[in-house]
Amino acid sequence: MIENIKLELKKLIEEYYKNNYNENISIVVEEPKKAELGDISIPMFTVVKALRKPMPEIVNEAVSIIKSSDLPILEIKPVGAFVNLFVDKSLLAVNIIKEAIKQNSNYGTSNIGDGLNVTLDYSSPNIAKSFSIGHLRSTMIGNSIKLILQKCGYNTYAINYLGDWGTQFGKMIVAYKKWGNKEVIMNDPISELTKLYVKFHQEAENDPQLEDEAREAFRQMELKNPEYLDLWKWIREESLKESKQIYDLLEIDFDSYNGEAFYNDKMDPVVEELENKGLLIEDNGAKIVKLGDDIPPALIKRSDGGSLYITRDLAAVFYRKNEYKFNKILYVVGNEQKLHFVQLKRLIDVMGYDFSNEIEHVNFGLYLTDGKKASTRKGNVVKLYDVLMTAINLAKNLIAEKNPNLKNKDEIAKYVGISAIVFADLKNYRASDVEFNIENAVKFEGQTGPYLQYTSVRIASILKNTEFDVDNIDATLFAKPHYFELVKLVSQFRLNIENAAKEAAPSIVAKYLLALAASFNHFYSVEKINVDDEKTRNTNLALAKSVRIVINEGLRLLGIKYLDEM
Ligand code: ARG
Repeated sequence: MIENIKLELKKLIEEYYKNNYNENISIVVEEPKKAELGDISIPMFTVVKALRKPMPEIVNEAVSIIKSSDLPILEIKPVGAFVNLFVDKSLLAVNIIKEAIKQNSNYGTSNIGDGLNVTLDYSSPNIAKSFSIGHLRSTMIGNSIKLILQKCGYNTYAINYLGDWGTQFGKMIVAYKKWGNKEVIMNDPISELTKLYVKFHQEAENDPQLEDEAREAFRQMELKNPEYLDLWKWIREESLKESKQIYDLLEIDFDSYNGEAFYNDKMDPVVEELENKGLLIEDNGAKIVKLGDDIPPALIKRSDGGSLYITRDLAAVFYRKNEYKFNKILYVVGNEQKLHFVQLKRLIDVMGYDFSNEIEHVNFGLYLTDGKKASTRKGNVVKLYDVLMTAINLAKNLIAEKNPNLKNKDEIAKYVGISAIVFADLKNYRASDVEFNIENAVKFEGQTGPYLQYTSVRIASILKNTEFDVDNIDATLFAKPHYFELVKLVSQFRLNIENAAKEAAPSIVAKYLLALAASFNHFYSVEKINVDDEKTRNTNLALAKSVRIVINEGLRLLGIKYLDEM
């Protein structure tokens, strides 16, 4: 929490030299090696050099600049070339609490993004296939990164790059024309379409000609054959409904749903450019681009002329660069596509563009149940919507047990259930595999989303029907470790958000909130909050309020709703 004072000191002193000497001197504000020397230390060498004045004079001048400020500083002790300071921690603590209460949900806002544009590509399910656990991870992680970036002043543009193009649609169309039934599909699109897809593969084992028919059907789509495109459109609409159910439940939205199909008419110019630059090589009838000895070449066109996943991603990245003027583009996609994104970046390099360093594969791991990869293949298709519903039902049971008289039980259970699922994911560093257990995730205690919601609700009930005056609080209480630790954590909110933004890692915010909640619950177990002494009561209530502000805003950044009751 000394960070803020350090920044202010730096600004104060630099501005002083600018205004009085017209010199731009960069001031270093650090922490002394030994704690007994002070909390902050400012070496004055650079100033002596710039102003050509004796050290003692410079040091004295610096001391008086600091003295004239209203920063919470207890003592200034110059030692040689260093101005060492002791911070008035109690006063600092009071300032932090006041600031949090004043700013409310704006607390923790940062400007490190400074209006830079970040394009995000996440969720991106494959149409006509079920929404997988990987897509759910991408959805939750991507959504949270977007919110965190916004909090840091970045302009974001969120794209759901639907997997709505490719040979699988050729297969789907062939299967539909042979065995499909419109009414049956309308009733339960994903299941029926999945059945058709499975049937296609079974039949194709004995009848390899089906694969050729599928390739031809996809080629027809790329040639814009109207009959095929109509069928495709219908399949796309129907199966998007399943994804939309999940987005509605999670209250997640996108700025664009332009998927792979959107790039159908945007690939030719890119392929031409590759050709003109002499990069496109014939390989057994197909067209490839060599990317160096360390990675395999990129397959750009099949021998039948069909495009590929990477061809579409290449067209998409140019389109997005032009359209959204990104300074950074984040692809929130599983670890298994690592090579794909290495290839995409390398393609941009070999084409002679300089923005491949703006492309970041924000990778994530698998979901494990009992140490094994959760599989949606081989028939045991667990619909994710059902998993979310199970969590919501578990939350409903818990609430019925703990707080039977609660109003809006259903709505609250919905937010608790969702919080359980989202938090169980986001508390883990994204690139790691996640061990998931639904019963543990929904619990009100342990490292769960409901635990954080519960901590906030607890504070809400303490604050209910009470008033407090933040201008009348007892600063001396912050000499006590459990007070001090808690404020210190509150003050670290912004830093944690900034780190989460830099690393595209919501887990940093999630873990921070767990630490804050634990610190508050410890505080609450040793300290009675609503005491008779007015100043102590004001202090306690203000501190509790600032903790609730941070938890609520932190939850929002993860895509979780805070509650007033549960
Ligand atoms: N639809 C793809 C899949 O499910 C993910 C797309 C990721 N985004 C991208 N631009 N490639 O595997």
